[in-house]
Amino acid sequence: MSHSNYTPNPNRYHDSVGYRNCGKSGLKLPLLSLGLWHNFGEVDDAEEAEKMLYFAFDHGITHFDLANNYGTPFGSAEKNFGKILKDQFSSYRDEMIISTKAGHEMWEGPYGDGGSRKYLIASLHQSLKRMKLDYVDIFYSHRYDPATPLEETMGALSDMVKQGKALYVGISKYPEEKAREAYRILQENGTPCLIFQGKYNIFTREIEQEVLPLANEQGVGFIAFSPLAQGMLSNKYLNGIPENSRAAHSYGFLQKNQITPEVVAKISKLNDIAEQRGQTLAQMALAWSLHKPEVNSVIVGTSSVKQLQDNVDALKNLSFSDDELWRIGELGV
Ligand SMILES: NC(=O)c1ccc[n+]([C@@H]2O[C@H](COP(=O)([O-])OP(=O)(O)OC[C@H]3O[C@@H](n4cnc5c(N)ncnc54)[C@H](OP(=O)(O)O)[C@@H]3O)[C@@H](O)[C@H]2O)c1
Repeated sequence: MSHSNYTPNPNRYHDSVGYRNCGKSGLKLPLLSLGLWHNFGEVDDAEEAEKMLYFAFDHGITHFDLANNYGTPFGSAEKNFGKILKDQFSSYRDEMIISTKAGHEMWEGPYGDGGSRKYLIASLHQSLKRMKLDYVDIFYSHRYDPATPLEETMGALSDMVKQGKALYVGISKYPEEKAREAYRILQENGTPCLIFQGKYNIFTREIEQEVLPLANEQGVGFIAFSPLAQGMLSNKYLNGIPENSRAAHSYGFLQKNQITPEVVAKISKLNDIAEQRGQTLAQMALAWSLHKPEVNSVIVGTSSVKQLQDNVDALKNLSFSDDELWRIGELGV
């Protein structure tokens, strides 16, 4: 990792990615947020990871999305991020929104997974330590746990806000009826839900049915994850699986067998539409994820500064004709 001192771009908010309010909250999120699930762990290129954080901040990307189990091994993304934060961003903490989550398996035994108060609070304490922070901006329940009463999970989130360890709470991947209950409980606790985090991309549109309308009705924000379907919505898998791609790594979440000939045929047709728009497929896929105004931000994962630049440039063309939306829709289902 470099030891040089980073000086942020003084024009970062003039020439920025732009912002949308998160639901009915006053909190603004950048249209593009940066996710640290892959590419920021111990197994990854530390120098490139650091450069991506600088590039993001220099372009007004103020929101960094983490979770306890991000990175290989688990926790290493928070640890690496914490080091760079302390060394290079300590004067800029008030310009950053830092999110973390607990809900998936993190450590051994009965208290390192799920939605119990024990797990969520212990996990947030660990995350704060790894990131060397006093508080996070958003603390999420990473998934619904049917084995824990919702009052307990939501109570743990609310208490972390009341103790000043998180500023806002969020939920991720909850089924619609459980999200509705969670919103009610959080409201009663005096800590309304800020945001719902769900998967949304050209290939995965389930949230359009219930989750997005509910969030909108309740004034809760929505942030999309995996807008590129983990990289499938780019031109990289058109001619096989390149070395160093997520599908090629043994530790990546995208499996080679997901890149089927049927998927590649769809990607190829989407790529043609993107070319007609003068965009790369990744750019068109990101722009598409933002085409509904209820989507407040999309979280991209990138493995290089070059990809992040490509993604920032996607924002130059966010509009779609009805015909384009129809043709893309035909290929997405
Ligand atoms: N709440 C949840 O349960 C949940 C689940 C998943 C993700 N998330 C959040 O969402 C974030 C993003 O998820 P994701 O990483 O799956 O997002 P994604 O943006 O769909 O996929 C990221 C991958 O796409 C490729 N890519 C990115 N930009 C590209 C470009 N311009 N051209 C070509 N390829 C490009 C890269 O693949 P290569 O590595 O192959 O280069 C990158 O690693 C995560 O970091 C995390 O913060 C949350």
